[in-house]
Amino acid sequence: MKVYAGLAGIPVVKSSISYIDGQKGILEYRGIPIYELVQNSNFLEVSYLLVFGKLPKQTEYDQFLCDVKNNLNVDSSIINFLKDIPKDTHPMKVLQSIIPILSAFDENKDVLDEKHHYSALVRLLGQTPTVLAAWKRISEGKEIVEPDFRLSYGENFLYMLRGEKPEKAEGEIFDKCLILHAEHTINASTFTAIVVVSTLADFYSCVSSAVGSLSGRLHGGANERVYHMLSHIEKIEDIPKIIDEKLSRKERIMGFGHRVYKTYDPRALIIKELLEKLIKIKGDNIPLYQKAKEFEKVALERLKEKKIYPNIDFYSGVLYSLLGIPPEFYTPVFAMARISGWIAHCKEYLKENKLFRPTQIYDGGHNIHYIPPEKRE
Ligand code: CMC
Repeated sequence: MKVYAGLAGIPVVKSSISYIDGQKGILEYRGIPIYELVQNSNFLEVSYLLVFGKLPKQTEYDQFLCDVKNNLNVDSSIINFLKDIPKDTHPMKVLQSIIPILSAFDENKDVLDEKHHYSALVRLLGQTPTVLAAWKRISEGKEIVEPDFRLSYGENFLYMLRGEKPEKAEGEIFDKCLILHAEHTINASTFTAIVVVSTLADFYSCVSSAVGSLSGRLHGGANERVYHMLSHIEKIEDIPKIIDEKLSRKERIMGFGHRVYKTYDPRALIIKELLEKLIKIKGDNIPLYQKAKEFEKVALERLKEKKIYPNIDFYSGVLYSLLGIPPEFYTPVFAMARISGWIAHCKEYLKENKLFRPTQIYDGGHNIHYIPPEKRE
């Protein structure tokens, strides 16, 4: 028997939700290339596509939008809870702990009932932006901003977070970033979600567990670290030395590398384009962007040989910083968008559910006898 470390290359499900060709840098959601979706669609329409397997007809979309918007408000007890927790709690921890509590307000509790799937989907899509924005305001000692139902999904989040209405283009660019984060085959957090659903736990438990899995720096947590890595650079000329020192210490360059992509992550290319569009609106001289571009160029020179390229997390933080989103909220934004992907996988997995129960190769001792505390060395 052999151990497959990190299950690298081992299929654990059959899925029709998304597809990656890591050699060619292709990503498709339900067969549609990611470029086409970013160009033509919006985050909620893509969420519908991921979960229900087809693009919605106008009436279906209108109903879905209405159901998400009807769930933007959170119960006042959740807001009161947020007011009582230490203000320096990381928003990923807040999100991970609030999600199971949101289930208390959902009467559709049976994970085997389609009503639970729909209800958890629209509630989580509606309420996670509100919880995150409320946490940002509360942790800064500011008044929370109620959702504005007239705004688009992306605009409303930026509005609740910042307390002022974003420009239309800012909302649109942000919404497209959410499309990029929405789904990505069986990565660590999605695998976590299906492992949890395989026990027939409800979707709130699956999503909350997946949030914990996403928070690590090898996964979604990389975007926050890229931001800090770039902002600590004082002079652009120092970049080659900084990178060489990191590599000689065997330190990983955050925002670079991927288990599946052995070329550019297509999401990294799209997010860079979106960032350039945003920079045109905000003005040219964005020091963080200048540093990011130089860092990308030099790191690529050093890592390309090993097929290590920028991933989505390399530029996402720079873009979010221009939208006024604080660094500790970059991974929560990723989580907020990934809810539709996680739920799509949980729903799909349940169709032929099999409890995950892998095995191990035991390499410990046998028949070892108990030693009383006073005799232990
Ligand atoms: N910087 C420097 N070296 C790297 C990096 C990196 N970012 N990524 C991989 N390597 C090297 C690694 O040191 C190893 O070298 P050697 O063979 O000499 O020991 C080799 O590449 C293979 O590494 P691995 O850990 O076996 O490769 P993996 O496929 O498990 O790595 C990864 C995938 C994402 C964990 C890794 O690339 C990494 O740690 N990247 C930085 C964190 C990051 O940006 N994560 C976000 C991923 S994309 C968003 C998401 O979907 O989560």
